[in-house]
Amino acid sequence: MQVGTDRIRQIVLSMRNFSRSDGTHIKLVDIHEGLESTLLILQHRFKASGKHPAIQVIKEYGNLPPIECCSGQLNQVFMNIISNAIDALDEEINRGLWAKGSRENAGRSSGSMPVSVPAIRIRTEVTGSDFIAIRIADNGQGIPNEIRHQLFDPFFTTKPVGKGTGLGLSISHHLVVEKHGGRLDCISEIGGGTEFAIEIPISSRQRAQDNKNSSSDARTA
Ligand SMILES: Nc1ncnc2c1ncn2[C@@H]1O[C@H](COP(=O)(O)OP(=O)(O)O)[C@@H](O)[C@H]1O
Ligand SMILES: [Mg+2]
Repeated sequence: MQVGTDRIRQIVLSMRNFSRSDGTHIKLVDIHEGLESTLLILQHRFKASGKHPAIQVIKEYGNLPPIECCSGQLNQVFMNIISNAIDALDEEINRGLWAKGSRENAGRSSGSMPVSVPAIRIRTEVTGSDFIAIRIADNGQGIPNEIRHQLFDPFFTTKPVGKGTGLGLSISHHLVVEKHGGRLDCISEIGGGTEFAIEIPISSRQRAQDNKNSSSDARTA
């Protein structure tokens, strides 16, 4: 019971931190805190149960300065992208592709990403002088070329009715690009897993400048 209540307390704290009622206010934010809250809320989906193997989470956190951003919105982005990665791995798990040994020689390893267990890797780093990047990768089935350009379209989903809404990536794109002056890119290859790269300016002054520079591009896009 003690362990149970401690766990509940931790999750409640995390949820409060996750959805901190800061509305759309810009504040100095510790990005790693947001990632940790998201992982804690999703922890039940990483655990092994029955024939379902555990999903390994690999964290490669760099040294990030505090970022001027809206933590509630960015946490929503982390939640959408990490949930998608788990969905992709679950699909492969259900097809029996992670059964013991079947992936040993699959040759899908890239750097620190394992091949024989389902895994999600989260990397953070400062890029250039005024941006940070958060890269969320999975070693799932990857995304076919034919649908890559539709990923960010509202209501685009490949999941069954009731499971997918097709809104996660479209909302994430809006929050990263329009609300934060950042970039959201997807790198994926069939059989080679998927990586989403979120780039956010360190200071909102930078962002205002970028928005001004790109507003004419946005109108023509
Ligand atoms: N990590 C991933 N691996 C494979 N496919 C993905 C991944 N992330 C997103 N997708 C694809 O992008 C689609 C759209 O994602 P999203 O906008 O979050 O909607 P939903 O999750 O409700 O389907 C998904 O249905 C899936 O086909
Ligand atoms: Mg989704």
